[in-house]
Amino acid sequence: MFFFIFIAWIGKPVSTSCPLEISPPSVVVRYQGSFSANCTSLSNQTDGMGWESPYGGVDLTKGVTSLLLRIDSVPVWEIEPMCYVNFRDGDQCTKVLPVTVYKMPDSVSLKNLSAVVEGRQFAIQCDIVNVAPARNLSVLWHKGNKILSSQTFDESSPSPVSKSSVLTLTAHRDDDGAEIWCEAKLNLWPEEQRPLPVRSEAHILTVLYQPTFISASNETLDLPAGKNILSCNATGNPLPSYHWQFPQAAQETYKDQDVNYPILTGPFEFPGVYTCTASNSQGTVTKYFTVNKPPGIGPGAIAAIAIAAIVFAIICTLGVIHRKCKR
Ligand SMILES: *[C@@H]1O[C@H](CO)[C@@H](O)[C@H](O)[C@H]1NC(C)=O
Ligand SMILES: *[C@@H]1O[C@H](CO)[C@@H](O)[C@H](O)[C@H]1NC(C)=O
Ligand SMILES: *[C@@H]1O[C@H](CO)[C@@H](O)[C@H](O)[C@H]1NC(C)=O
Ligand SMILES: *[C@@H]1O[C@H](CO)[C@@H](O)[C@H](O)[C@H]1NC(C)=O
Ligand SMILES: *[C@@H]1O[C@H](CO)[C@@H](O)[C@H](O)[C@H]1NC(C)=O
Ligand SMILES: *[C@@H]1O[C@H](CO)[C@@H](O)[C@H](O)[C@H]1NC(C)=O
Repeated sequence: MFFFIFIAWIGKPVSTSCPLEISPPSVVVRYQGSFSANCTSLSNQTDGMGWESPYGGVDLTKGVTSLLLRIDSVPVWEIEPMCYVNFRDGDQCTKVLPVTVYKMPDSVSLKNLSAVVEGRQFAIQCDIVNVAPARNLSVLWHKGNKILSSQTFDESSPSPVSKSSVLTLTAHRDDDGAEIWCEAKLNLWPEEQRPLPVRSEAHILTVLYQPTFISASNETLDLPAGKNILSCNATGNPLPSYHWQFPQAAQETYKDQDVNYPILTGPFEFPGVYTCTASNSQGTVTKYFTVNKPPGIGPGAIAAIAIAAIVFAIICTLGVIHRKCKR
């Protein structure tokens, strides 16, 4: 009694050791593609074999130890061909050939593309249309020569579905002009046998940012200025436009200079503060150039020289060092 219960509880241990070998042990086939598989019985008690399959099945064939299944065009998304063997004692056992039917996507494309402002978050969407099986799909995001992220999907349907992946980034000025694209691939093969992934078109990022001076700090220079230019160059997107303001005395001199140019060319004869602003749609920044009077030719120095001359004259006049003056 106990023995019978034990057997019932174990179930059918024989089926797991069915002496059948299928080559190849699993199949990956394109929808409407063809494949074949060879089932071999390792048992010397083999009476007959067959393939059970809604398409391309093979009837029970007596007196063979191997049997070929061939399907010329797989017409469905899910198919489980089964090889069986009949033994001389009347027993039967079966083995299933796992088949994955795939289809590369019809298209892979990007959407939601617009210029973005530095510092803001933005999202780009990648649409993958009609791919199967989506559980073996991965979507990779590329920026330049870097892979930013990859995504896989929980999907039970073996037939084609469409999927979307959304990439969220924070806009940075270094990314202005960078290329972004996505790529869909099916992970059904070893790397070297994998068909080429399907790529979206590349999108060139436009990141808007306010002007930033190439050399940021205010500058001070002394007359006569050795340095002959004042540079207000700034980066920015859109390209910045420039505006200069000069000290009152210098206005006549620079009236012909193109004030819309980032560089002001000397000579600088007039001390004072020269101001440059760079602006675009994202903001305005200002830089100050302070031009100082030449040291030593100021009124203080002139006064010192004058006083020295007067003192010398007085001394001579007084004749204290009479001889020296005469020389
Ligand atoms: C199937 O496999 C058996 C055993 O390896 C081999 O003898 C036979 O030639 C194969 N049949 C085909 C059609 O490849
Ligand atoms: C069949 O194989 C079994 C082992 O699997 C072996 O004991 C037996 O002798 C074989 N019978 C014949 C007729 O070869
Ligand atoms: C497009 O991007 C904006 C923000 O940049 C986001 O709010 C929106 O959900 C996105 N639309 C799609 C379809 O991804
Ligand atoms: C496809 O994906 C499923 C689920 O992730 C996995 O179990 C299976 O091994 C994959 N198929 C292949 C051929 O790698
Ligand atoms: C330049 O000078 C202005 C006015 O004196 C000041 O507000 C600003 O902070 C200075 N900028 C830098 C980078 O030092
Ligand atoms: C500044 O801008 C001028 C005119 O656009 C350019 O010729 C010059 O090379 C720039 N200088 C620097 C340091 O970028």
